[in-house]
Amino acid sequence: MELKNPELELKQKFTELYGTEPEKLYFAPGRVNLIGEHTDYNGGHVFPCALTIGSYAAAKKREDRKVRFASMNIRCEVTEISLDDPELHLDGSGTQEELSKGAGDWTNYPKGVIWAFAEAGDKLPSGFDILYYGNIPAGSGLSSSASLEVLTGLVLRDLFDFEDVSQQGLAVRGQRAENVYVGMNCGIMDQFASAMGKEANAIFLDTNTLEFTTAPLVLKNAKIVITNSKVKHQLASSEYNTRRAECEKALKILQDAEKDGREIPSLGSLTPEEYDARKAAIKDPVIEKRARHAVYENARTLEAVSALKEGNIARFGELMNASHDSLQYDYEVSCPEIDFLVAEGRKIDGVIGTRITGGGFGGCTVSIVREDAVDTFCKTLSALYKEKYGLDAEFYVVDAGEGAHILK
Ligand code: GLA
Repeated sequence: MELKNPELELKQKFTELYGTEPEKLYFAPGRVNLIGEHTDYNGGHVFPCALTIGSYAAAKKREDRKVRFASMNIRCEVTEISLDDPELHLDGSGTQEELSKGAGDWTNYPKGVIWAFAEAGDKLPSGFDILYYGNIPAGSGLSSSASLEVLTGLVLRDLFDFEDVSQQGLAVRGQRAENVYVGMNCGIMDQFASAMGKEANAIFLDTNTLEFTTAPLVLKNAKIVITNSKVKHQLASSEYNTRRAECEKALKILQDAEKDGREIPSLGSLTPEEYDARKAAIKDPVIEKRARHAVYENARTLEAVSALKEGNIARFGELMNASHDSLQYDYEVSCPEIDFLVAEGRKIDGVIGTRITGGGFGGCTVSIVREDAVDTFCKTLSALYKEKYGLDAEFYVVDAGEGAHILK
C-alpha cells in the first residue's frame, strides 16, 4: 500500500481512529547496505546509507496506563495493552526466555522498545496512542523492523522527555529490543543507519567501537539501484542466528589456538593475512568458510571506502561483486533468485557492481549502475527474471536520506 501523502493521511486516520489529534508526526528510514555484510556482529566495519523510505508514526500521550498500537499497513486494527500487564514485562523486567516473543506479531517490536527503555531506567510514566505507516516492502532486507524500532524510540524520547537518549542511544535500544524481546540476534548496523543517517552520505561504522564517519556518496555518473526479488526472507532469523553462532565458534577456536599471546577480540580484528596464518586450527570446513567471509568482507569494506574517497567507483564495484560471491559461496546466505539477478545484472553494460544486501535468504540486491544504463538494467533484468521465476522484480533508484527525525 502506497500513500501519496503519508503525513496528511496518518494525521487524519489517527484522529478518526482515536478521536483526538496526534501531538506530532515522526519518521525513521530504512537502510541499504553498500558493503560490509554480516560483519557487524563480528566486530567489523559496515557501510550502509539511510533511505528516504521508512516508517512514519503519529502519536499522542495518554493520561492512563494504556498503550494502543495500530498500523495503516494492517487495516488499522487496534491492539490495546496495559503498561502494567505482567506478561509483557514493560517495566524492563524478565529473563531472556520470558521475553523472547518472536517476530510473528509486529507489535513485539514497539513493545520491545518500551521494554528496552524501561530496562535502561526510562520507565514510561503513562501510556500513549500510536498509528504507524511504513513504505518499505516487508521482508525485503531494507530494515523495516529496525526503522520501526528506532521510530518508536524517537516517539518515546519525545513524548516523555527522555532527553538524555542520543540518536545513537535510539539505535542501541532498538537493537536491544530486537535481540532480547523479539529474539533476533542482529548486529547494530540497521538501527544505527536508521538513527544516524545523513542525506547524500553513507555511514562508515566500526561496529566494535561505534566510531563512525560519514562519507559523501559521490558516484559521478552512476546511481544506486535496489532490485527487490520479492522473495521474502522468512528463513532469515533462524539461519541468521545460526551464522552468528558459527562465527562465535570460529572465534573461540582461534582464541584457544593462539600461542603467541595475541588477543583476538573478534574476527573483525584480524587482517586476511593474519587469518590465513591461523585458519588451519579450524577443522570444520563450514565453520572455516564462515570465518573467512567475516574477515575478508571486513577488509573489502575498508578498501571500498578508500576507493570511494579516491573516486575509484570501478574498484568499489569490483569489491561489491566480490562481496556477493563470498556471501553466495562461503557464507551461504543468498538464494537462487538473487544469484540469478546478480549474475544477469553483471552481464549488462554499465553495471559497475551488484550484490545481495541485508541479512539474506531473499530480499534485495544493491547495484551501482551508470546513469545512462539504468533503464536498460531495469528492463532487461525485469524481463529475464519474469521469464525464469515468474516474479515481478521491483526497482528503486535511491538517494541516501536523513536519519530518524520529527516531521515539521
Ligand atoms: C541484518 C541484521 C544486521 C546485519 C545484516 C547483515 O540486516 O539486522 O545487523 O547483520 O543482517 O549484514
